[in-house]
Amino acid sequence: MELVTTREELARARAELTGTVGVVMTMGALHEGHEALLRVAREQADHVLVTIFVNPLQFGPNEDFDRYPRTLAADLEVCRRAGADVVFAPSREEIYPGGEPRVRVNPGGLGEDLEGQSRPGFFHGVLTVVLKLFQLTRPDLAFFGEKDYQQLTLIRRMARDLDVPVRVVGVPTVREPDGLALSSRNRYLSEPERAAALSLSAALRAGADAAEQGGDAGVVLSAAHHAFGAGTPGAQLDYLVLTDPELEPGPVEGPARLLIAARVGATRLIDNMPVHLAPRS
Ligand code: PAF
Repeated sequence: MELVTTREELARARAELTGTVGVVMTMGALHEGHEALLRVAREQADHVLVTIFVNPLQFGPNEDFDRYPRTLAADLEVCRRAGADVVFAPSREEIYPGGEPRVRVNPGGLGEDLEGQSRPGFFHGVLTVVLKLFQLTRPDLAFFGEKDYQQLTLIRRMARDLDVPVRVVGVPTVREPDGLALSSRNRYLSEPERAAALSLSAALRAGADAAEQGGDAGVVLSAAHHAFGAGTPGAQLDYLVLTDPELEPGPVEGPARLLIAARVGATRLIDNMPVHLAPRS
């Protein structure tokens, strides 16, 4: 495995990869969720290229950019074990040589909704760096976790709407045995906060169970709200919504997505699950 940190080194390493190249973009602090992305990338592409970059553009002024975990040595070990061919771990200056870019990708209306409501500018920052990394790494395939479902949906739309020649592959969320979705931010949680954080997955599970038993959108949402309220206190709900699989608003039937966001102490957590809805009764 080769570690590269500059554009020139990356271009040289990329030119040596023949066959299909799959990229896994990360901000480091790799966990089993990333390992699943690497595994799927390994299965579907001839070569795997990992990027590790904590993107300042996607952090708001009061967010955790400075305290975001940086664990490069351990991350490289995870990449090596997973069979990555190249890791690109650039500095901030390498990605944004002229300072923060004046031109950014506009995510459109979907970028203002859900996560975008409490994190203004977040998806402009995400899509801008993802597009830059697409240009620099020129992958055939790109693997993103379903855990960040709105991000995955917007990246898919960006690739489609802006004709980026890449196939975006969504990889299912990896969970702890008790249901908690893996996230780099889980390491911020104290023990009582972790217990409270289980309310998110419990709400989704209850909603999905209600859907399996034939519940319509109203029944599913009320089961999810009820389970959230019955969880260990300490999680403050931001949103709990049902949308269609493309995150388009409106009444949903059939395949749908149940999404939740809540604050636990100083940590904002998100999660989601696919559900299959019965027609409205
Ligand atoms: O999901 C992440 O880790 C980041 O948002 C991404 C896609 C690497 C862009 O910085």
